[in-house]
Amino acid sequence: METLRQIVVFVHIIGFAVLFGAWAAQAFGGKKQFTALMNYGVAIAAIAGLALAAPWGISWTPGASFYIKITVKLVVLLIIGAFIGIGIARQKRNETVPSVLFWGVGVLTLVNAGIGLLWH
Ligand code: HEM
Repeated sequence: METLRQIVVFVHIIGFAVLFGAWAAQAFGGKKQFTALMNYGVAIAAIAGLALAAPWGISWTPGASFYIKITVKLVVLLIIGAFIGIGIARQKRNETVPSVLFWGVGVLTLVNAGIGLLWH
């Protein structure tokens, strides 16, 4: 079970890499637009993250801190998803995407990765 959990963490990190990679490619040298690949990254990170939110494959009993952490991560993920959704809808209508939405996705993605790594 512990190995399986490690594999799910690996998939979770792949979701992060897809989301952040797609965003970084757009942010640095790209058109600063939202892409379908970002949605795939969010979906992968969300599914694997929800699987990790249950306390299986670990030898310790999660305390309140663990559940506060994943609740914060879930809220941040929902904000990221909303920003991408609003952005893609505006792009389809040929409207400009507010830069706070675009840069917000990159910053919030790093915030969630940081919480995952540093909050224990
Ligand atoms: C954009 C969204 C997200 C990103 C970029 C992200 C990124 C990360 C990263 C980089 C780690 C560190 C893995 C490691 O320990 O080596 C991690 C761990 C983790 N994440 Fe996420 N995550 C996201 C969303 C979520 C969501 C929505 C949940 C649950 C509702 C979640 C639950 C977890 C859990 C349980 C861990 C393991 C931490 C531990 O065992 O203490 N993540 N995440």
